[in-house]
Amino acid sequence: TQHAERQRVLDALRLSREQLLEVKRRMGDEINRGLAKESHDQATVKMLPTYVRSTPDGTEHGDFLALDLGGTNFRVLLVRVRGGKRRSVEMHNKIYAIPQEAMQGTGEEVNRKYAHPHPPNVMSIPPPPQGILLKWTKGFKATGCEGEDVVSLLKDAIHRREEFDLDVVAVVNDTVGTMMTCGYEDPLCEVGLIVGTGTNACYMEEMQNVELVEGDEGRMCVNMEWGAFGDHGELDDFSTEFDRAVDDCATNPGKQRYEKMISGMYLGEIVRNVLLEFTAKGLLFRGKLSERLKTRGIFETKFLSQIESDRLALRQVRSILQHLGLTSSTCDDSILVKEVCSVVARRAAQLCGAGLAAVVDKIRQNRNLSELKITVGVDGTLYKLHPHFSSIMHETVRDLAPQCEVTFLQSEDGSGKGAALITAVACRIRDAGQ
Ligand code: BG6
Ligand code: GLC
Repeated sequence: TQHAERQRVLDALRLSREQLLEVKRRMGDEINRGLAKESHDQATVKMLPTYVRSTPDGTEHGDFLALDLGGTNFRVLLVRVRGGKRRSVEMHNKIYAIPQEAMQGTGEEVNRKYAHPHPPNVMSIPPPPQGILLKWTKGFKATGCEGEDVVSLLKDAIHRREEFDLDVVAVVNDTVGTMMTCGYEDPLCEVGLIVGTGTNACYMEEMQNVELVEGDEGRMCVNMEWGAFGDHGELDDFSTEFDRAVDDCATNPGKQRYEKMISGMYLGEIVRNVLLEFTAKGLLFRGKLSERLKTRGIFETKFLSQIESDRLALRQVRSILQHLGLTSSTCDDSILVKEVCSVVARRAAQLCGAGLAAVVDKIRQNRNLSELKITVGVDGTLYKLHPHFSSIMHETVRDLAPQCEVTFLQSEDGSGKGAALITAVACRIRDAGQ
């Protein structure tokens, strides 16, 4: 029957508890490989040391300029940090959408318009701060940046303007900024997570395990760059023909395979590929393949969130489809499209939860605890706007890491605040040393 045929296609996108446990286990292995000196080069999860060793203690103060290059927006923030009894963080910001030509033109163009703050995949080495751009992700492909130090690119760009000068104190990944922002409110926050255009996580690792950096005392925040998990085939037995189709058409084929199964930039494309298959099999849109459905990128993240909204009647699902240009849809079509969205988002949330379960369990084992209480600071449009993503992810973490009591804290003001706090901590330590 048609129903059985549809379910057979969707079953490939449903993961069992055993499979999720296996994902957790493999992520755990990859974490260890990335941390160890001898296997680091072969690991997909890079586990980059961030040199952030302490969270804010509340005495920091000063005015800082933060530039935040996210996936969707570029933010410029002026952050005023007040320490002591009246401790507070006050922010003024300007938000700009990132246009295509800046993402895909020359590096100079990105720079001219939006000098680089925390580009994806950055490793920072202070002092003086340096940030070598390892690889662009999330659709960026501006030339002349990979392998370069974005701090000098930024400074050069500012000098070319001949209008002002500034001192770059820190280059920070967005996960780290998010962890720091949440850490200002909650000292138990030792993990940062982003689920937006892309996905990534960071956490406080024991210095003795961070083999790329000298010293065994205390802890250091590690930027996992977990989006690259799967790039050596670790996820091949869980991925589908739809994932492969999405990967083939991306700006970075073969790369960021885990990210491509989870984050907002790709979920809509997975959904579209499933719908193409259903249509080709005559199970959807009366078997009529429209030009519209063949167009890449028509399903934005916001669509996934809208279509799964519980308050939405089927009639409204249909009008969303019509709005997208998929006009010939019937009531049955609407039900199926909604189901596809829900299966794809559920798998994303579960995969993300399995990765996070590996992280919190690793922290628990590091500390030899039978129970760990920990807070995860989270940001990103998919996590914040999707009606079910967060709850499915939370449930998965609870299920796969039962010895960890995990609290999720939404980062309210983005990672720019975190970058300013890191700078404030760096200045406090520098000033104390003078
Ligand atoms: C923002 C953070 O709020 O969330 C950014 O300030 C981060 O640093 C972003 O990159 C992630 O979400 P999205 O959906 O824009 O990728
Ligand atoms: C991409 C980037 C990573 C960033 C994440 C979330 O995976 O490579 O640096 O943290 O997106 O925005």
